[in-house]
Amino acid sequence: MQTGSDLSIVLNNITVSYDDNGIGTTPVIFIHGFPFNKNSWKPQVEFLKSSCRVINYDIRGFGNSTAGNEEFSIKLFADDLINFMDALKIDKAIVVGLSMGGYIILNAVERYTERLEAIILCDTQCIADTAEGKEKRFKTIEQIEASGLNEFTNGFAKNVFSAITQSAKNDIVEEIKTTILSTPPEIVIATLKALAGRSDTCSMLSSINIPALILCGNDDIITPPDRSKFINENIQGSKLHIIENAGHLSNLEQPEIVNKYLHEFIDSVLK
Ligand code: MLT
Repeated sequence: MQTGSDLSIVLNNITVSYDDNGIGTTPVIFIHGFPFNKNSWKPQVEFLKSSCRVINYDIRGFGNSTAGNEEFSIKLFADDLINFMDALKIDKAIVVGLSMGGYIILNAVERYTERLEAIILCDTQCIADTAEGKEKRFKTIEQIEASGLNEFTNGFAKNVFSAITQSAKNDIVEEIKTTILSTPPEIVIATLKALAGRSDTCSMLSSINIPALILCGNDDIITPPDRSKFINENIQGSKLHIIENAGHLSNLEQPEIVNKYLHEFIDSVLK
């Protein structure tokens, strides 16, 4: 099996771009949020690759992965995760997902729990979009169709980071803006529809019987800490850490503390 960065593998009808680094029998697979790509997990991959096998991939349509012809949905993205594991001959993995990555994990754990050794949910939630939330997504789609990604990108960057990141870590803010602007508008639109159409996964949390770690930025206004607390209260034996001075992208805003929690948890699962 090939290892390194910017590898690609063909699944049924898409090509998935991924990095595969480090050594270990049970890999840790990182799933990015919307509308980012596999590079948004760089600080974690760089930190963990000396102690375990770490894989980060671009969800279909994002980064260098192709989109295929099917209508985007969180269920399709979860099926892609399992097909990707099959293609790499991975029986079981620890999966880490931020926001949309977390929606994908919660969908996958419901249907493919035997393929998951443990789950790590960062800045995410189990509830589906409210009617108001859906309406907001469709307004955003109209805005992107009318005038492209600029306004969406600026608004998104304002909401996604804590005030402290906005003022003290401008390089991260600019990098995320560049990532969003490099995503094809039709992919952003197709994913907004997928997010609006996702199902609620809250009622199945109590049936999760694998180790679970939950992380959330204290200043996350997109998926606020209450949503993570709810997940924590409903997954038996799960652990929750709230990350100070971080918004929705806690892994980029406070990488050292997030790396520490990931390392501790992964170590406890793998030993
Ligand atoms: C994400 O970060 O993946 C998105 O903000 C999720 C969402 O909009 O529901």
